[in-house]
Amino acid sequence: MPNTSKATRYVAIETRRLILRTPTLSDAPAYAALFSNPLNYEHEPHKPSNPSVEHYERVLSSFIEGTHKRKSAVLTICLKDGEEIIGTGGFNSIFTRKPGNVRIGDAGFMIDSAHWRKGYAKEAVAAMLDWAFIPSSLARRGQPAIDVVVFESLAANDRIKGLLSGCFGFQATLRDGGFGAEQVWEITRADWLKRSTMMGLPDGDIPFPASLRPDPQAAGT
Ligand SMILES: CC(C)(COP(=O)(O)OP(=O)(O)OC[C@H]1O[C@@H](n2cnc3c(N)ncnc32)[C@H](O)[C@@H]1OP(=O)(O)O)[C@@H](O)C(=O)NCCC(=O)NCCS
Repeated sequence: MPNTSKATRYVAIETRRLILRTPTLSDAPAYAALFSNPLNYEHEPHKPSNPSVEHYERVLSSFIEGTHKRKSAVLTICLKDGEEIIGTGGFNSIFTRKPGNVRIGDAGFMIDSAHWRKGYAKEAVAAMLDWAFIPSSLARRGQPAIDVVVFESLAANDRIKGLLSGCFGFQATLRDGGFGAEQVWEITRADWLKRSTMMGLPDGDIPFPASLRPDPQAAGT
């Protein structure tokens, strides 16, 4: 159940098996371990040079501050059962693009390789998109009411491609980047409503108004 505290803008999104929540400084050892596993960042152009607990305490402070200022919403991903930290994800930055005042969320996800192919990223991404795309008229305190969620990765990253294109059916575009070919997904609220309706995924804590949902048959075309 989404819950955002007024004082800290602490976000907690609950799914069937997971909790996605604003990091705390005590998560630093788990982040240091996540970023010490080369499989987890195999396709990242920038490799972590100093995955120490002290480094991630500083990084997590900036994530907490970013959430407080509503400029980002990075979330620690924990198993509900036992509270083990298994990954991180969410929005590295949230900003308004002009013209049109379009709210953009620049997204990323990482699940530790020990937990790959158990459906955790699918569950976490679906919950995060539900949370992010709630329109501003329904958004609770702290919900960013994003219009377009952007994922970018090197084109060589077939894992994120498998998740976003293979599993969710979102279309990527290819472009040249500073580190080689890149794939980019720009997912709109309408895209998400269409895909989640077609996949029969349940709404998050706040249901989308029926007027926003496409007809299930039309969504399937
Ligand atoms: C991409 C990543 C988040 C996927 O996490 P995951 O928890 O293993 O994914 P899920 O188990 O939820 O997969 C759901 C579906 O996505 C697709 N998928 C996931 N990983 C895939 C892979 N390696 N190859 C092809 N398809 C894949 C499959 O359709 C899968 O369903 P299936 O297992 O029933 O076939 C994970 O591999 C990861 O953290 N990689 C390193 C970090 C990274 O590259 N992040 C992306 C940067 S934006």
